[in-house]
Amino acid sequence: MVFNLKGKMVVLRRLKKSDLNQLLDVGNNKLICKYMRFNYPFTQKQAKELINSSRKHNQYVLGIELKEINQIIGVITLRRINLKNKNAEITIWTGKKYWKNGYSFEALNLLIRFAFYDLKLVKLWANVDSDNVASKTGIIKAGFKQEGYLVKQIYYKNKWIDQLRFALLK
Ligand SMILES: CC(C)(COP(=O)(O)OP(=O)(O)OC[C@H]1O[C@@H](n2cnc3c(N)ncnc32)[C@H](O)[C@@H]1OP(=O)(O)O)[C@@H](O)C(=O)NCCC(=O)NCCS
Repeated sequence: MVFNLKGKMVVLRRLKKSDLNQLLDVGNNKLICKYMRFNYPFTQKQAKELINSSRKHNQYVLGIELKEINQIIGVITLRRINLKNKNAEITIWTGKKYWKNGYSFEALNLLIRFAFYDLKLVKLWANVDSDNVASKTGIIKAGFKQEGYLVKQIYYKNKWIDQLRFALLK
């Protein structure tokens, strides 16, 4: 069955090979690569890996398709799905030219609803770099609450990164 979560402005669906060029275009941004831990410039290899991971059925790596242009503008994921403890990690990124239009907010809400009401999860979590204002603002707007401050959580490019732990309960 084709996976499809429809909103007013965006549709969440599995990525396909034909998304490759658009994915390369929207993903090739310094800030996205920094916060998503992609190599910059965003490579074909990384885009292909994303497309391949989208086929796996133990996780949801979904393209965010903007209805207006019928193109992928970013990626949202539900991974580390723990069916016993009913929780999962959520991540999102969208191309710079599409920021601040409410697209991510709608995508987050579509996936949250799916996670709680179809997958019957009860808790979603996200680790956000402490300097990532956009992500922090977006996730709080979606209802997430900060649960902790993770000191030196990631070692990246010779630096330690602190992260904020956010979670949303059903
Ligand atoms: C985080 C990200 C997905 C937000 O995408 P977006 O499409 O701009 O988000 P939305 O338009 O849905 O905005 C949601 C809220 O966040 C706010 N927001 C977005 N960017 C912001 C920024 N740079 N500074 C402050 N607030 C910001 C919006 O104003 C909106 O709040 P409002 O309705 O009260 O004004 C996007 O900035 C991104 O892809 N960043 C790089 C990758 C990343 O950091 N991903 C998260 C990793 S944890």
